[in-house]
Amino acid sequence: MNPQVTGQPTVIRTLPHLHQRAQAELLPDVWAYIDAGAGAEATRTDNESAFTQWQVLPRLLSGVTTVDTATSFLGIELAAPLMTAPIGCDRLLHPTGQTAVVTATTSRSTVAVVAEASATSLEDVAAAATGPKIMQVHAQGAVSEFLALAERARAAGYAALCVTIDCPVLGWRERLRRLSITVDPAHFSGNHTDGRFATALLGESGSAWTWDTLADAAERLPLPLVVKGVLTASDARRALECGARSVIVSNHGGRQLDSVPATLDQLPEILDAVDGRAPVGIDGGFRTGLDVFKALALGADVVLLGRPVAMGMALDGAHGVEQVLDLFTAELRRTMVLAGCARISDINADLLRRRT
Ligand code: FNR
Repeated sequence: MNPQVTGQPTVIRTLPHLHQRAQAELLPDVWAYIDAGAGAEATRTDNESAFTQWQVLPRLLSGVTTVDTATSFLGIELAAPLMTAPIGCDRLLHPTGQTAVVTATTSRSTVAVVAEASATSLEDVAAAATGPKIMQVHAQGAVSEFLALAERARAAGYAALCVTIDCPVLGWRERLRRLSITVDPAHFSGNHTDGRFATALLGESGSAWTWDTLADAAERLPLPLVVKGVLTASDARRALECGARSVIVSNHGGRQLDSVPATLDQLPEILDAVDGRAPVGIDGGFRTGLDVFKALALGADVVLLGRPVAMGMALDGAHGVEQVLDLFTAELRRTMVLAGCARISDINADLLRRRT
């Protein structure tokens, strides 16, 4: 928990202001837990800088007076093509944790991807707000236990199951090790009655899961499957072969294997491989509405926000997350007017050029 949070409403004026306030006001350990990547943090940095490789070619005098950011994902209506990424260990950041996130996504008519590794059970998170939610689970442990969790998610009203495939063991979080920051397993254990999940996640050995395990589990899944952590065309194809209804291009915000490529750089080859068969989401390094615009122009269907949502939640619970969603949406709207796009479907690759 972050005892510096005073109960006073926090005003976040811009997204860089969010970053600045979070760094200045959160406890150093909380800030480090949110901000740190794995290893030398090359991927974390590359995720953010990948956006500068793209420049916008606006459609001027397009007569666009107002814009509509509405879209949908797996049949769920979204007010904007933004969802919240799963944030585990959430109550380390703020006492309300993921209940704050689902409260905010409900009030802003979007979708939260709720993390398995939480101190709060998926049922309690679901009960906190009525809006649509997707449950995230790790590709690890016995398939029977995985399916039991999926069934609990179905019963609690979750719309899909998002399986994270890039976390067979936690990444080598250099910065957290240097600062001697360790996480109490209780922060991971709200969905599990024994300590096996936390022990596996915090342990040294990798998950025994393979694509065959995923295919086997997917056949018996009571919910649509979303695969998160895809970074190559071949893995996108494999995910679809397993029955995935969507893939999320993600490197876990550079928190897992360092030196993997930036997600934005991998997006085009994954879109080619998916070839319109499923919606493609992406996360990693999105810090402005303009970043969101660029990913949509390259062909992504939806963007997931990780650290900005974690910072908003840590600073001010649901109110903080609402402000983060509002700022991304407002900036995206402004970018759309300036670039001459009235609807999300008007945003396409003609509006981008690669920096020379
Ligand atoms: C995460 N992420 C994550 N992903 C996941 O699949 N399960 C999890 O439990 C967590 N936990 C988590 C905690 C914190 C504090 C952060 C910052 C991130 C990764 C997250 O869902 C997403 O992939 C990245 O955060 C996206 O990159 P950005 O937006 O943080 O740059």
